[in-house]
Amino acid sequence: SPLHPFLQSLPKCEHHMHLEGSLSPSLLFTLASRNKITLPASADSAFTSPETLLDRYTRFTSLDDFLRYYYISMGCLIYEADFEQLAWDYFVRAKSDGVMHAEVFFDPQAHTERGIDYETVVNGFEKACKRAEQELEVTTKLIMCFVRHLPVEHTNETYIQAEPHLVSGRLAGIGLDSSEEGHPPRKWHEVYGKAKKQGIRRTAHAGEEGPAEYIREALTHLDIERIDHGIRLADDKELMREVAERKMLVTMCPLSNLKLRCVKEIGELPIRTFLDSGVSFSINSDDPAYFSGYILDNYCAVQEAFGLTVQEWENIAKASVNGSWCDGSRKDAIL
Ligand code: ADE
Ligand code: ZN
Repeated sequence: SPLHPFLQSLPKCEHHMHLEGSLSPSLLFTLASRNKITLPASADSAFTSPETLLDRYTRFTSLDDFLRYYYISMGCLIYEADFEQLAWDYFVRAKSDGVMHAEVFFDPQAHTERGIDYETVVNGFEKACKRAEQELEVTTKLIMCFVRHLPVEHTNETYIQAEPHLVSGRLAGIGLDSSEEGHPPRKWHEVYGKAKKQGIRRTAHAGEEGPAEYIREALTHLDIERIDHGIRLADDKELMREVAERKMLVTMCPLSNLKLRCVKEIGELPIRTFLDSGVSFSINSDDPAYFSGYILDNYCAVQEAFGLTVQEWENIAKASVNGSWCDGSRKDAIL
């Protein structure tokens, strides 16, 4: 697109990317060999080489189909240095895409469940965050997500483990991700209620594959402050008006939605509807190594499908800054 240099230089924030989702097949094979992890190539030939895996990533059939690769692959992350490298590589790339501030997700349960210490994960990610701030001038926030395919009791244990970090601000907030269908948000109301009482920021994936009703539930039962994906919001006009009025941010991930077949083409996403209805949204990469696109690729894909004006793009980037969980002085410095 002729707007590419403009879109790259626009100061922007990213709010919806999973650090584990930036694990590329090439880093996966490097770590697997370094950590002596055997990939399940005999059960699934996609794990034969980085090339066969990348090729398989062009044919995801659903969120759950993708998640299978996502969880198997993160099994090669063992040491603090592995987590640090993963996050650092992402921050370097984000910087070159014009990201000034990144709020990144991670899934502690996916690591503790396989015997990795919670502290190993957080310490590794935190080191990369500190380095990004010092060497790249990219500010960062870590958001821990609960995975909804595991029992709610597991979430409660994880919350207790993370509580000191959440209260001290070492972690910026909580989110909810993983398999959506059959896992209604209301199941997590207790832990979200506790977080709210403690003044902890809350977001949740809702309305990605699941219905608009799950967005409504996440608002009423979890009292979330941001909506991750939220593409089904356009199916419920009354709810959409409420989200617009409350100036809540919807964190959209266009290439993810396309690759996981939530939509047949980018043009089906409610971008125009959101712009016309005053819904604030940001554009994000979700799992860049799996959906062959970092944040700028997502901006460009939206531009190709919708042909937005320079003014509209400036407003989208501005909304991404204002919807961030950084303080006002940082926002002013970015804008
Ligand atoms: N975990 C990583 N990426 C995800 C997505 N797009 N939806 C739900 N859970 C995820
Ligand atoms: Zn996501």
